[in-house]
Amino acid sequence: MADLLIRGGTVVTADSMGLSDVLIGGGKIVQVGNGLETDGTVIDATGQWVMPGGIDTHTHLDHPIERLGVRTADDFYVGTLAGAYGGVTTIIDFSLQARGESLLKARDRRLGEIQPNSVIDYSFHTIVTDVNPESIREVGTLVESGFPSFKVYMTYGDKKVGDGDLLILLEELAANGGLAYLHCENDCAVTHLIEKHISRGETGPAFHASSRPVPVEAEATNRAIMLAEVAGAPICIAHVTSKTVAEHLEKARNRGQPVVGETCPQYLVLNDSVYDPDGGFEVAKFVCSPPIRAADQVEALWSTVEDGLLQQISSDHAPFHYQDQKTEGRGNFTRIPNGLPGIETRLPLMFTYGVKEGRISPSRFVELTSTNPARIFGMYPNKGSLEVGADADVVIIDPEKQVELDAGCLHSAVDYTPYQGLKVSGFPTMTLSRGEVIVQNGEAVAAKGRGRVVQRHRIDPGSLP
Ligand code: URP
Ligand code: ZN
Ligand code: ZN
Repeated sequence: MADLLIRGGTVVTADSMGLSDVLIGGGKIVQVGNGLETDGTVIDATGQWVMPGGIDTHTHLDHPIERLGVRTADDFYVGTLAGAYGGVTTIIDFSLQARGESLLKARDRRLGEIQPNSVIDYSFHTIVTDVNPESIREVGTLVESGFPSFKVYMTYGDKKVGDGDLLILLEELAANGGLAYLHCENDCAVTHLIEKHISRGETGPAFHASSRPVPVEAEATNRAIMLAEVAGAPICIAHVTSKTVAEHLEKARNRGQPVVGETCPQYLVLNDSVYDPDGGFEVAKFVCSPPIRAADQVEALWSTVEDGLLQQISSDHAPFHYQDQKTEGRGNFTRIPNGLPGIETRLPLMFTYGVKEGRISPSRFVELTSTNPARIFGMYPNKGSLEVGADADVVIIDPEKQVELDAGCLHSAVDYTPYQGLKVSGFPTMTLSRGEVIVQNGEAVAAKGRGRVVQRHRIDPGSLP
């Protein structure tokens, strides 16, 4: 039964681009072609682009930072709504294993937090903080229950997993069709550089960046790749900030190792001038880990998304209010919660700075922000494609309409945007989730809790992009 027709738009997928209609029925893609008809509703997409909905595999909604006694500013309702305004139709967030906690218990607790709230479809990676015989036994069950990806922090206080435990976990993932998603920074170096700054009275927010320079990230990335090779496990490197880091992935991929990498808009659109001490404490708005890099690294990073060295662009949406959350780190930069908001601005920023500026093709844009995330994390082709039978998750954008970014007009609860004042194009005029219009012309019509958990499949290292 066909009930919705998107007519006359330019359909852009990871493989092709051309004028086409899209017929939707029962929440699924029924047909893509020219001259299609329906008795149902017709959406006129003339002059607009019709694409698979955005997939953001790196969000931190309602995410606790126990050390600082704070949670991210967006809960699952507000955060997924902000995502829908920005053309996101699926997120993969995180469930956090408390020390000593069962991974399955952490999964069930997190499902209870997301299910009543999310307006779009969702899954999560399991953050493993405690590698022990019980958590290792649970890996296979988690994969089979549709959660095949596992986040590991190589630094970050009590979330850190050491090399020995990482190796044990990687072996278990390799044996069970799981994928490690790694935050790579050398913990000893970060700890040492922080202590050095603090002992010298260098406590302002700009010192966050100088305590986490590129080699700190590059070393850990290389170590993760080597350990993955030892274990025979596929891995995904989170938030790669620079070409220097990406070169380690390049070498591994050239050897045939199943390694994929992600970067984020903040590492492509901003540069380390945001850490100019003349910015005073407002520099804290840009405190994230790893930090934003120098302009020459940023330019070189673009080449890695152009030439296929990195495979996906996620937001790492970790929104903390400037007032009363970031400002808690006045007098000690280690007490500034790390992270930037970005779930709503990811697609427009990448469309503007990537496609409009001629750095990536429209199809590569879709591949980086939707299709590859689905392929890497076990959702393709049901998500991230417009293939017949796929979920009808569709975003329609106006490639010409320009918007000036302003925190007051965005939908995250957070009180600032790192992109204030930038002019971008490509905001959605419509977002559809499983054939249902959830945002139309800047108005959300999405019911709280309508999102569904995505049943993800085992990761086949051979099918990674
Ligand atoms: O600074 C960041 N990115 N915070 C979020 C947590 C993480 O590192 O993924
Ligand atoms: Zn991280
Ligand atoms: Zn993150």
